[in-house]
Amino acid sequence: MDLFEYQARDLFESYGVPVLAGITADTPEEVRAAAEKIGGTVVVKAQVKAGGRGKAGGVKVARSAADAEEASRAIFGLDIKGHIVKRVMVAAGARIAQEFYFSVLLDRANRSYLSLCSVEGGMEIEELAVERPEALARIEVDPGTGIDLAKAREIAKAGHFPDELIEKVAPVIVKLYEVYRGEDATLVEVNPLVLTEEGDIVALDGKVTIDENADFRHPNHAELEDAEAADPLEAKAKAAGLNYVKLDGQVGVIGNGAGLVMSTLDVVSYAGENFGGVKPANFLDIGGGASAEVMANGLDVILGDAQVKSVFVNVFGGITACDAVANGIVGALATLGDTASKPLVVRLDGNKVEEGRRILADANHPLVTLATTMDEGAAKAAELASK
Ligand SMILES: Nc1ncnc2c1ncn2[C@@H]1O[C@H](COP(=O)(O)OP(=O)(O)OP(=O)(O)O)[C@@H](O)[C@H]1O
Ligand SMILES: [Mg+2]
Repeated sequence: MDLFEYQARDLFESYGVPVLAGITADTPEEVRAAAEKIGGTVVVKAQVKAGGRGKAGGVKVARSAADAEEASRAIFGLDIKGHIVKRVMVAAGARIAQEFYFSVLLDRANRSYLSLCSVEGGMEIEELAVERPEALARIEVDPGTGIDLAKAREIAKAGHFPDELIEKVAPVIVKLYEVYRGEDATLVEVNPLVLTEEGDIVALDGKVTIDENADFRHPNHAELEDAEAADPLEAKAKAAGLNYVKLDGQVGVIGNGAGLVMSTLDVVSYAGENFGGVKPANFLDIGGGASAEVMANGLDVILGDAQVKSVFVNVFGGITACDAVANGIVGALATLGDTASKPLVVRLDGNKVEEGRRILADANHPLVTLATTMDEGAAKAAELASK
């Protein structure tokens, strides 16, 4: 989960990373009040989860509260890479002497952490990385030892910081790593990290990505979620503890095991080519214990997707045998009653497949069609969706 800049700022502050005053505002009137509270020059900053806000006109300096209010009128409603600005942060204006870049992130390919650092920050770091890669240091960080003061100095030195700045910036790098580690983040990026005219190091813009797999360790992370932006179906699935991703097609897919579901998506797309380009509507892995309840929750989410025209249930019985899955489907259809209104193609294989098929055949539900192979099931579901 990506955080808004103001959320990153607040986290930084709680870890002792130097930041400037920042107050969020949802209307121009609130902007004026926030600017009055902060006093002096402020910067009005669009709060959207997209980069390049400055270039898009989403960051404006204002010398008075009236100017800030005026500036915010041009920022609210702005479309920045498809994100409409509904909230801004009014930040105290810094007198910037120099802008730097620092980040620490999860390096999946190398199963390690990686820190990127450059004394030349502020501008788009992607450009710097391409045009002058030597200016952007890439330092591996051992997850076992992390970033202590010595490591922070090494990073700053590699980023070509001069000696007198290394001593100032290293403690801030250590604190930023504490945010990364303490919050189970996969990214902490500061661009720009600045040196002010007063000689202080300040994080002026922060990007933080939180690893949701660690949410159980961080009850407070629930508050950081942007409920408004979440897809309603994905939110519903998440609340039911389902592993669901919304896609654009018409064939709802339910399977057990991520690998099987992924290949089911491929097979449905392939079969769909013969039926006017029908595509899978979602990824849904109901996992090992495909109980009636889990099946009902899964079906409920999928049938709630207005785009779905048919559903393909593709299950390979393992520890949870096919008879249990079949009972799950029958139970789910009974639970859902009239809400279950779209045709279901079911393919079962593996442990207790005969029993499973018999249970479904005996139930003889008008919406359910049985398929013997994955290809056959996908073709049938695609055909039903194209009607
Ligand atoms: N509080 C502040 N005081 C003074 N100048 C600021 C302040 N915040 C930002 N700036 C200036 O505006 C520039 C852009 O701000 P910021 O980095 O927050 O947005 P951005 O980089 O355009 O957006 P993104 O990080 O989403 O790409 C900074 O490089 C800095 O020069
Ligand atoms: Mg920035």
